[in-house]
Amino acid sequence: MKKVLGLVISNRKLGNSEILVKEIMSNIPEECTRELIRLTDLDIKPCRACYRCLQPGESCAIKDDFNFVIERIREADALIIGVPVYFLGPHGYYKMLTDRLVGAQNYVHHTKGKPCVIVMPYGSMGWEGYSKAASLVFPKLLRMKLVDCWLVHSTLPGESLLSPKNISYAKALGRELFNEREYQAGSRECPVCGSDLFRFLNDHQVECPICGARGILKNNGSLDFSDSDYNRFSDQNMDEHFNNWLLEMKERFRAQKEYLKEVQKSYRDQSWWIKPLR
Ligand SMILES: Cc1cc2nc3c(=O)[nH]c(=O)nc-3n(C[C@H](O)[C@H](O)[C@H](O)COP(=O)(O)O)c2cc1C
Repeated sequence: MKKVLGLVISNRKLGNSEILVKEIMSNIPEECTRELIRLTDLDIKPCRACYRCLQPGESCAIKDDFNFVIERIREADALIIGVPVYFLGPHGYYKMLTDRLVGAQNYVHHTKGKPCVIVMPYGSMGWEGYSKAASLVFPKLLRMKLVDCWLVHSTLPGESLLSPKNISYAKALGRELFNEREYQAGSRECPVCGSDLFRFLNDHQVECPICGARGILKNNGSLDFSDSDYNRFSDQNMDEHFNNWLLEMKERFRAQKEYLKEVQKSYRDQSWWIKPLR
């Protein structure tokens, strides 16, 4: 039987992220088991940049709930993420979780090609900021199939599903989760990854800051990515980055450790740190 995991990244009980995830999950026609995780109830610490998880077969050494979450994601046949927009980007806990994917290569055998829906409620029109682009990184690192990245305007808790249009869209996402449905980028989005942000380069060139694809902004305002041949999330580029480049950097660090310590030395005694008294 299939397993579907809903990951809710909002403290707000029965808020928009939660009810949207539940509406999608309850409309999956296939027989499946359903599980929900409220990430904000768990202990997710910042990545400590030890790079231990880069080694094949290694898990994260931090004693918190990350390994529980990633295990549940690995086991699941599909992932539904509900994450609100907080100050122009996705809720900070989502970024914390994404930062813990240095060991993504150890999980991709399980997650590759599995369907993932991202649903992002936001409260103020025009305040979506960089949320959509930023939210794509997590499923891309796990090489999941993006079914949709749906931004839903809804300010008050529950408001997202007052709209019949939103209800039927959520139902359709549930119904079509396990069929061939895949995110189709709009004409003003990166055709490679779906990001809606671009960096302007010289000579009308634009670059997608998420997948790195390059295209041309034509005089009529349309985007042409027909000559683009780069995607940082391709299997080849991901393997190169994680299996070669990052491991090389680890070796470089080992080789230069003593030399780097010399640079750090003069800052060691500048202990101006403060902490609240417990
Ligand atoms: C701290 C905070 C920051 C927010 N920042 C934004 C924002 O920048 N843009 C926006 O459109 N909505 C913003 N919102 C509104 C939420 O995105 C919106 O209410 C959403 O429906 C909340 O989802 P939830 O019910 O799942 O928590 C913010 C809400 C909070 C609490």
